[in-house]
Amino acid sequence: MNPVSAFDLVIFGGTGDLAARKLIPAMYHRHCAGQLPEQGRIIALGRKDLSNDGYIDAIFDKSRSLITEEYFDDGQWQAFSKRIEYLQLDAASDADFDRLSEHLQDAAERTRIFYLSTSPDLFAGICSRLSQSGLALANSRVVLEKPLGRDLKSADEINACVESVFGEDQIYRIDHYLGKEAVQNLMALRFGNSIFEPLWSHGKIRDVQITLAEKLGVEGRGEFYDSTGTLRDMVQNHLMQLLCIVAMEPPISMDADNVRDEKLKVIRSLEPFTPESVITDAVRGQYHAGAVDGSEVAGYCEEPGIDADSRTETFIALKARINNWRWAGVPFYLRTGKRMHEYVSEVVINFYALPHEIYPASDGANGANRLYIRLQPNEAVELHLMAKQAGVQNTLKSVKLDLDLAGQNERHLDAYERLLMDVVRGNQTLFVRRDELNAAWRWVEPMMNTWAALDKAPEAYEAGTSGPDAARNLITRDGRAWIEDL
Ligand code: BG6
Repeated sequence: MNPVSAFDLVIFGGTGDLAARKLIPAMYHRHCAGQLPEQGRIIALGRKDLSNDGYIDAIFDKSRSLITEEYFDDGQWQAFSKRIEYLQLDAASDADFDRLSEHLQDAAERTRIFYLSTSPDLFAGICSRLSQSGLALANSRVVLEKPLGRDLKSADEINACVESVFGEDQIYRIDHYLGKEAVQNLMALRFGNSIFEPLWSHGKIRDVQITLAEKLGVEGRGEFYDSTGTLRDMVQNHLMQLLCIVAMEPPISMDADNVRDEKLKVIRSLEPFTPESVITDAVRGQYHAGAVDGSEVAGYCEEPGIDADSRTETFIALKARINNWRWAGVPFYLRTGKRMHEYVSEVVINFYALPHEIYPASDGANGANRLYIRLQPNEAVELHLMAKQAGVQNTLKSVKLDLDLAGQNERHLDAYERLLMDVVRGNQTLFVRRDELNAAWRWVEPMMNTWAALDKAPEAYEAGTSGPDAARNLITRDGRAWIEDL
């Protein structure tokens, strides 16, 4: 593991939601773990006119509830807050970048990390001003939040500007799903054990289901969400990355490019959507008023910041096919949505049933084993097997081999803790390379284009349900069912 050297973490969007909810709590936890060097500063940038103390008080108020209670310590927070400096900056002002440059000048030898937690429209301008004001040095790194662009063309334009200032080895395109403990565990399960690999292919696996379901709605992000939608917000990045980790070949090492080469091959092997297959194999939905956990909630178009006639999708279900030797003929059913009846993120690997059953089962289950890798709400890996029921009769019942990851004693790092420390250490394994990003945009574009050309609203679903009926039909017509419908 690379050592942690002195650093300046410069956050563009320092007064924003991500800084308060994720970045500051993540750095606080790493501070408490003793992982930050003495010379590790956080420089938060924002347009608001705030003093240093004013910023620290405001960020404390917003971040406090997101720091795990048992790890909060007032003395530690006081020590941590001494690392934080606030600087007022307008991302469009050359003079402000010159002030930033002066501010950082006395620590030019530190690793400089520019975290762009702003709208992607600002990325190109920020990078060129960093260059003009002499801030981008050989030891600088830049972190780009998703979604990067709106389509392949805009992503390419942004990347070209960023790459005119930083080399690919200095660019960290973040997808926080890759930093989740359970995703690391999925890789460990696949590539750190001998028993799974012979079972991990067509002929053994009947289908794969990946679900990222949220109970939350757009949570005050109406304007952003309405111009983004689920395809850009969740499918092009989080869902695609999970699919890659499930489907990739074993890399020759955990070196960044070896891992990313294998993920790229998966995306390239995905069968491209055509206007016809978008109609048959992709479903988009939008929630209407309903009830979640017994409380009434408004429909998407009634949420603040959303156009009353909006056709932006809040749900997507897809059937994907990977055309390579390992996965030919194995459907991957993917779905993600907001305001669903359950909060669950999981990968489910469905193995084939036995060719011939000789045991009666007491609970109707059969030998079609199933492996669950659950990311949320709890992290767990469960293998569903058949075992003999105690007693004289030779009857079987299904049982779970349960690896309860949360039950392990060590505290689990939040995805941002791991990823930020990877940036500090210079490890790009869990970050997305430009060619991967482009391939992902290329794959989702036919859906965007076909839906834009159709004069049709997304399928309606009631908030607090499992999505539109069409999503159920997508899988039942293949003689299968989503896991919760079994
Ligand atoms: C973000 C999306 O990238 O991921 C949000 O912009 C979504 O819309 C969030 O709610 C889900 O992340 P997590 O870690 O809470 O599952």
